[in-house]
Amino acid sequence: MSRLDSFIRRLEAQRACLDLAANLVAAMSGPVLELGLGNGRTYDHLRALFPGREIFAFDRALAAHPDCVPNADRLFLGDMRDTLRRLALPAPAVLVHADIGGGGEAASRAMAQELVALVARHLAPGGVVVADQPMAEQGWTAQSPPGGVAVGRYFVYRAGVPRA
Ligand SMILES: C[S@@+](CC[C@H](N)C(=O)[O-])C[C@H]1O[C@@H](n2cnc3c(N)ncnc32)[C@H](O)[C@@H]1O
Repeated sequence: MSRLDSFIRRLEAQRACLDLAANLVAAMSGPVLELGLGNGRTYDHLRALFPGREIFAFDRALAAHPDCVPNADRLFLGDMRDTLRRLALPAPAVLVHADIGGGGEAASRAMAQELVALVARHLAPGGVVVADQPMAEQGWTAQSPPGGVAVGRYFVYRAGVPRA
């Protein structure tokens, strides 16, 4: 597969998984977290999927397209390992999208492992994690990728709901 084909499939997988997640959490209330604002492409898609819902975005520094810059009170700049640790959300997140890759495969996977517990801390019961790296956590169930998305290309997990 050419690098162009691979890039296109990654973006298609990203969109399909975010669309799936939006359906899974449609009946839940709570904010959305975008870990890895980058250029703002997926942030913009999340805004379209979740109109009116609070979306909090994280990155080391602001590099987003001017049309995709969150309000200052919803933008957390700095290392996510610090900003997520200090984060106080108004309510647990129903969806966390972690799109953190870029520093090489091994480094990206290691970063994802460092972030898993912090993500879990902010995720609502029944909430969904969509990630570009494996992020398995105890109590989360891996969801089958949507049709057309190859296993291992993008990852979807759902947190369990504690029994009463
Ligand atoms: C693949 S890009 C995100 C692309 C973005 N979702 C988009 O659609 O435009 C990954 C981003 O994660 C950020 N990132 C990775 N690890 C981070 C960390 N520990 N703290 C803060 N930002 C991090 C990088 O700075 C980079 O902007």
